Amino acid sequence: MENGYTVEQLRTAAIDAIRAPSLHNVQPWRFRLRDGAIEVLIDPARRLPATDPSGWGARLAAGAALFNLRLALAVAGTPATVRLRPYPSEPDVVARLVPDVPRRPTPAEQNLHAAIPRRFSNRAPFWPDPVPADARWRLADAARTEHCWLELLIGVSAVNAFAEIAHSANRVLERDPAYRAERHAWIRREYAPDGVPVTAGGPLAEPQDLLPARDFGDRHRPPGRDFEPEPLVAVLGSPGNTAVDQVIAGQAMQRVLLTATDSGLSVSMLSQPVEVPSAREQLRVSLGRFGAPQMVMRVGYGQPGWPTPRREVDEVLDLPVHHHA
Ligand SMILES: Cc1cc2nc3c(=O)[nH]c(=O)nc-3n(C[C@H](O)[C@H](O)[C@H](O)COP(=O)(O)O)c2cc1C
Repeated sequence: MENGYTVEQLRTAAIDAIRAPSLHNVQPWRFRLRDGAIEVLIDPARRLPATDPSGWGARLAAGAALFNLRLALAVAGTPATVRLRPYPSEPDVVARLVPDVPRRPTPAEQNLHAAIPRRFSNRAPFWPDPVPADARWRLADAARTEHCWLELLIGVSAVNAFAEIAHSANRVLERDPAYRAERHAWIRREYAPDGVPVTAGGPLAEPQDLLPARDFGDRHRPPGRDFEPEPLVAVLGSPGNTAVDQVIAGQAMQRVLLTATDSGLSVSMLSQPVEVPSAREQLRVSLGRFGAPQMVMRVGYGQPGWPTPRREVDEVLDLPVHHHA
């Protein structure tokens, strides 16, 4: 096909796409070229049956990878027109991207793109400094730009009410041995191209912690180094909760995360209250929102940290086979 994307364009953009976050860093995505279109797929071999039975987490991660892909293509001067879930008979195909009219990238696209390799989940305590109003506005605006909402919990009582919902969801999840086993299976004590390195885990939970943290680490905190007493908690939600809505939410999540990185902010994710249906509904009602909460983020000024590993880009590309006569 004429005017299609090339293998080289796909490969370059996919290097950015795979920096996206995913549950337990399973990296549940594949990318292929079909008739000049780039397609983003969910890799059925990388499902988490106990943690993510519905596939919500895989669709959020694929949506985040799709957002990075869109940015990378735009910054390269070849922005895409995107169709989500283009083939009803192939639900694992999350998006199809065809070239739009070439143009120069905007400064906003360039800034967000530059944040891709610097973003990482920061599970350590943040500094107590509050996040200024203009930075909070940018985060909410990032979600709106991608057709989602971001509710910032203001005040101790709102955060306490959220914490109660989150802890009870966490207790429900932790009662399931299969859920615990899945998390343990993805903790990495030595270098690996996927999974969560113990060094990226936060300090071990202690009873005074306001928010429940998923336990990936094995380190006790030094005395007095508790979590910030008044965390900024942000709930991202989408207007509906279909598979397409979840891919949209993944893109919005990534736009919020990159906007935070670009503003010098750190983020950790906590999704337990989204994973338990009754907690999710309680959270939605407590916010007085329509639609569905899709992700919760703790935002603040963090200590330095490092991006986590990814698989080689060539491992997630399905390239066209050329038949030579
Ligand atoms: C759908 C989804 C849910 C997540 N839930 C949690 C969570 O509950 N707790 C947590 O510490 N990290 C959570 N994460 C973050 C991932 O563990 C993290 O993105 C992954 O390990 C890759 O690391 P990175 O974000 O530093 O690139 C979640 C990520 C996604 C995409």
